[in-house]
Amino acid sequence: MNNIESSGHTIYFETRLAPLAKIMESEVYSKVFVFADRNTAESCLPVFQEMLGDFTGFDLIETDPGEENKNIDFCIGIWKTLLDFEADRKCLMINLGGGVITDMGGFVASTYKRGIDFINIPTTLLSQVDASVGGKTGIDIDNVKNMVGTFTLPKAVFIETDFLTTLSKRELLSGFAEMIKHGLIVDKVYYAQLKDCDYEHITAEAIHRSVEIKNEVVTEDPHERGLRKILNFGHTIGHAVETYALINDKSPLTHGEAIAIGMVCEAYLSHKNNTLSKEGLDDISSYILSLYPKYHIKEKSFEQLLAFMQSDKKNEGGQIMFSLLSSIGVCDFNCRVATGDILASLNYYNNIFFK
Ligand SMILES: NC(=O)c1ccc[n+]([C@@H]2O[C@H](COP(=O)([O-])OP(=O)(O)OC[C@H]3O[C@@H](n4cnc5c(N)ncnc54)[C@H](O)[C@@H]3O)[C@@H](O)[C@H]2O)c1
Ligand SMILES: [Zn+2]
Repeated sequence: MNNIESSGHTIYFETRLAPLAKIMESEVYSKVFVFADRNTAESCLPVFQEMLGDFTGFDLIETDPGEENKNIDFCIGIWKTLLDFEADRKCLMINLGGGVITDMGGFVASTYKRGIDFINIPTTLLSQVDASVGGKTGIDIDNVKNMVGTFTLPKAVFIETDFLTTLSKRELLSGFAEMIKHGLIVDKVYYAQLKDCDYEHITAEAIHRSVEIKNEVVTEDPHERGLRKILNFGHTIGHAVETYALINDKSPLTHGEAIAIGMVCEAYLSHKNNTLSKEGLDDISSYILSLYPKYHIKEKSFEQLLAFMQSDKKNEGGQIMFSLLSSIGVCDFNCRVATGDILASLNYYNNIFFK
């Protein structure tokens, strides 16, 4: 399978880390650190080690797993650990984990002593198909997601499906939502292929196509001035629901579960406010309905959801902006929608799930 050339670095596919072994043995770097969370240290580090053979010339920096730990306190801890190890500017950080580890590890590396090299090895489906491209690093401040961060490119990215074997079904499904989104916004043939495949046995080829789509979009618009906004399909409403569930529900939604809800609502808006056909809307709704758990968007949450959408950093001039499909495989951005239609889309979701 071909590697993908992204701006300034390569995304390697199924190489069993052979190019990484070469980099680590080349003595270009003064020291090598592997950054992982407790789960990936347990599940992924042995696979990583097995792929690299005898090579043991790295120090492990381990952190607690989860979004709640993607914060400045943990960054300070990692910066101090690097200092304790006397890490200079010529050292390398390898981020081995999901999006939390690649986002936070990338942020720590891009700021430590004004920047050291880092390599990402994403180990969740979500981080492989989404966080692996685009150069965004970041952390949360007071639970506001990705408030502080940088655009810094890794030196390389390695995608290995072997890492996915220890991932739960729920985490697989979470990443799968982003793949569905890639098909819906850019490639109807890919969307049709995904509908035929089993998300629990996702192939490297399917992951490759998703990365290719994201890479094409991001390369054309690296700083999110225009086209890149289509990647936001499902996310205006999805993010609001995700935040609401995090604050109010006993068990929060995964990112993909929230985005699946957002995609149904925004497909409705695409039909109402753009040219997506009724057949297209029904197709998307029934497919997502067949995969994702039911969720009731409570009427009493509607006002707060609108407030979350209003504060979305992607808005312009206080107006909530949507990316809406004109058909399956084609997406427009900067679409304005009346508040009444947004509320109607939430009711549409509730009605199809609970009719
Ligand atoms: N930079 C970007 O462009 C970008 C894009 C999308 C998402 N993100 C960020 O990514 C984060 C979400 O990523 P995520 O869903 O990967 O979350 P995550 O990193 O929290 O991983 C989810 C859970 O799976 C565990 N895990 C990871 N790999 C595993 C494996 N192979 N086997 C078993 N367990 C494993 C983790 O320890 C964690 O408990 C968010 O913080 C989001 O903001 C960033
Ligand atoms: Zn997303």
